[in-house]
Amino acid sequence: MDKKLKVLLIGSGGREHAIVKAIKNSPILSELVCAPGNGGIARDCKTVDISAENIDKIVKYAVSEKFDLVISGPEVPLSLGLGDKLREVGIPVYGPSKNGALLEASKAFSKDFMKRNAIPTAEGVSFTSFQEASKYIESVQHRVVIKASGLAAGKGVVLPETKEEALEAAREMLEGGMFGESGREIVVEERMEGEEASIMLVVCGRKYVMLPASQDHKRVGDGDTGPNTGGMGAYAPAAVANASVLADVRSNIVEPTLAALEKEGIDYRGTLYVGIMITKSGAKVVEFNVRFGDPECQVLMPLISSDALEMLYDTACGRLNPDSVKIGGGFATIVVVCAKGYPGSYPKGCEIVLPNSDSIPKDSWIIHAGTKAQNGKILSAGGRVLGLVGKDLTLRGALKKSYGLAEMIDFPDGFYRKDIAHRELERG
Ligand code: AMP
Ligand code: GLY
Repeated sequence: MDKKLKVLLIGSGGREHAIVKAIKNSPILSELVCAPGNGGIARDCKTVDISAENIDKIVKYAVSEKFDLVISGPEVPLSLGLGDKLREVGIPVYGPSKNGALLEASKAFSKDFMKRNAIPTAEGVSFTSFQEASKYIESVQHRVVIKASGLAAGKGVVLPETKEEALEAAREMLEGGMFGESGREIVVEERMEGEEASIMLVVCGRKYVMLPASQDHKRVGDGDTGPNTGGMGAYAPAAVANASVLADVRSNIVEPTLAALEKEGIDYRGTLYVGIMITKSGAKVVEFNVRFGDPECQVLMPLISSDALEMLYDTACGRLNPDSVKIGGGFATIVVVCAKGYPGSYPKGCEIVLPNSDSIPKDSWIIHAGTKAQNGKILSAGGRVLGLVGKDLTLRGALKKSYGLAEMIDFPDGFYRKDIAHRELERG
């Protein structure tokens, strides 16, 4: 490609920092700007102080500064219509339009979409009235899961142990204002049993690249204990999604989903994240997201050995060639360092002393999530603060690099899980 690209990336988390690292040395990049970015992103590229949710300001800025490509890291701007507005003014964007973003922004839409297109998923029914929901919950034989339909930053799902707990969760969402607007509609689902994996696809209409399967670690404590978080660590490829599972996912989930999107008039260009449960009767969809997972993105980017920017740009322009995307061998892992107290309340503004970039070993990266740069120092600014990423030929080698980085940082107010990838290691 002759033209060099001026790229605007939206977001401020570890996912976006991983994207910055993956594209900043691309031979087709002329300039990279991130809005709003974080303390680490600001060390790698220019940042501009525009909130990811202020889509009108983003569009104005993208037009006035003549960007060639906008990449949306998070889902919220997409669900507000960032993709539509940019396409209207002729700027290619990596991320679906509002109609595609509904797959994540409305679990009720997503469940109906899967039902009407025969895509394997848990049985599920949507409700806006507690009376109706409670009748249904009382009537079913299976265990249920209660989900707020709208966006809830990954926290809108309750896994009740008893019928009473299920009724209570439904009542709190529909009548008690739990999750606000997002909980005005709920989905009551059958509870599935099995192991979970995340499958991320780069989708351009009917064409797609399936990136290596990954596995996130939702619980805060070692051994998968304690409350749910945004994700404490991840690794890829996840062997639980073996060749036969992946073949099942391709033919029974991915291809029918892309055909259904096309049939329903949704021109999807961006990431489709398929959370799956590997059940006794095959893989089933737990959820769709319309962006890269965080922290899964941080382990996928290092495994892409071709030019990631070219892949994102071609997708945004509607001309992805899946064969041009190359995945390197080996494994990548991330250990997320959080502020003590997370996912409950935690202090912000605590200093983090990081190693000099020259002393960071090869195939090891310190990814910033909730950090900010102030007077030459890096301070914590969120619950998930840093991601320690390692890549190696073996899973153990990658983990050694991630945990090796932990020894190099000085952050007394932080903590991290010591057992990332334990299930995979136990399988041997
Ligand atoms: P979601 O936000 O829909 O991915 O749900 C969050 C988490 O809740 C998932 O990663 C699963 O661990 C669990 N979960 C959601 N739906 C179900 C289900 N139908 N059966 C069992 N577990 C579920
Ligand atoms: N790591 C899960 C997510 O990004 O939704």
